[in-house]
Amino acid sequence: MSQLTWGGRFSGDTDDRVVALTESISFDRRLYRQDIRASQAHARMLAEVGLLSKDEADAIVRALDEIGGQIERGEFTFSTKLEDIHTHIERALIERLGDVGRKLHTGRSRNDQVATDVKLWVRDGIDALDALLRDLQKALVEAAERDRDLVLPGYTHLQRAQPVLAAHYFLAYVEKYERDRGRLADCRKRTNVLPLGAAALAGTSLPIDRASVARQLGFESVAANSLDAASDRDFALEFVFDLSLIALHLAGWAEEWILWSTTEFGFLELPDAFCTGSSIMPHKKNPDVLELIRGKTARVVGDLQRLLVLLKGLPLAYNRDLQEDKEALFDAYDTVHASVELAAAMIRETRFRKEVIASRLEDGFLDATTLMEHLVLQGVPLRTAHEAVGKLVKACEERRCRLAQLPAELFDAIKPGLSGSVHKVLGVANALAAFKSAGSTAPAEVEKQIAQWRQKL
Ligand code: ARG
Repeated sequence: MSQLTWGGRFSGDTDDRVVALTESISFDRRLYRQDIRASQAHARMLAEVGLLSKDEADAIVRALDEIGGQIERGEFTFSTKLEDIHTHIERALIERLGDVGRKLHTGRSRNDQVATDVKLWVRDGIDALDALLRDLQKALVEAAERDRDLVLPGYTHLQRAQPVLAAHYFLAYVEKYERDRGRLADCRKRTNVLPLGAAALAGTSLPIDRASVARQLGFESVAANSLDAASDRDFALEFVFDLSLIALHLAGWAEEWILWSTTEFGFLELPDAFCTGSSIMPHKKNPDVLELIRGKTARVVGDLQRLLVLLKGLPLAYNRDLQEDKEALFDAYDTVHASVELAAAMIRETRFRKEVIASRLEDGFLDATTLMEHLVLQGVPLRTAHEAVGKLVKACEERRCRLAQLPAELFDAIKPGLSGSVHKVLGVANALAAFKSAGSTAPAEVEKQIAQWRQKL
């Protein structure tokens, strides 16, 4: 008799090349915990509705626990001949329990089974990642508190623009990861709808109780349409999109820190434990971890692309194409998981080279915009003020000096008496202290935000 679950109408062996093409056990074994959890809930439900006796369900639940233990300990034998994780576990159950094991699949199909397992896996993945992102946010808030008084040059177009507090910089990423967490929570809602009971595509004539399975597995509700439930992978796609955006946020930060750790910037001293050396250049300390966090974003975005193309144009309901969803899903998750974990560690261990930052902070006219706004407060129309400060910057470039070093006449020529008040806004420290608006880098605003995040995390 065939070892396969569908051997009845077939004679002879499957071609080896077909076995190799169609197997998924080499990657979906990773779903074993979810498969066992879902099967145990299914068995208990079958007993509730009288399709199994209480003893039979108990025996199945116990045997599934044992099989799970075997897999956990690496004592379970996997074979590509048995296709996938669902077949392996059911086959092992039948080996232990005989006819009782042969009843487990009552009222379900591998189609709704795999959809349920993957949803449980994504749910677990979302919960684990949410905890990691929260820790990353905590690391960023700690860094904001540690360097609350440090002023950095802020950039647009990677050109010096206006001064920002280092704390403001770190909190910018806290906001990004907060949105990422919000997206994951949102994805979790749509994931948390039970497919099991859709059976192959149309449901079943057996008196199953889907609400019981949903309750046991912590699903919020039961999928309303069996054709949709057996074919839906929107949640996987959504999850991998959410992962892609996290990867993008990490990549932007990694790029920044790669630049900041160069001799040219010199802003950061990266910890040795997160760098590697060169086999030929003895002086090198390379930011490989940051480069790989940036580089691995390509994998995650590639995984998203892979899922998008995979799901395009599939007719209802289940198609075997769907088996190809898992590797992209697992890879995207593993990659982002590792990157988020390392990012938090690096943020905790990296220190700014404050003297280098301070030694060049007055370069680049970081106070020019604040000077312009000061003119506006003196009644000069904004466009006029913009042009006047532009000319002052040009004068500085000709004289190779800073705005604060220009002669008083140049200010008074813009508006009589102006030279008497510009010292209040010139120089980076003054320019920074002048900020006021909500959400700005104004020290009081930043303190408020640090306190809010402290409270929240
Ligand atoms: N290994 C399959 C998958 O991952 C399980 C479902 C197989 N269903 C089927 N009708 N062949 O999608």
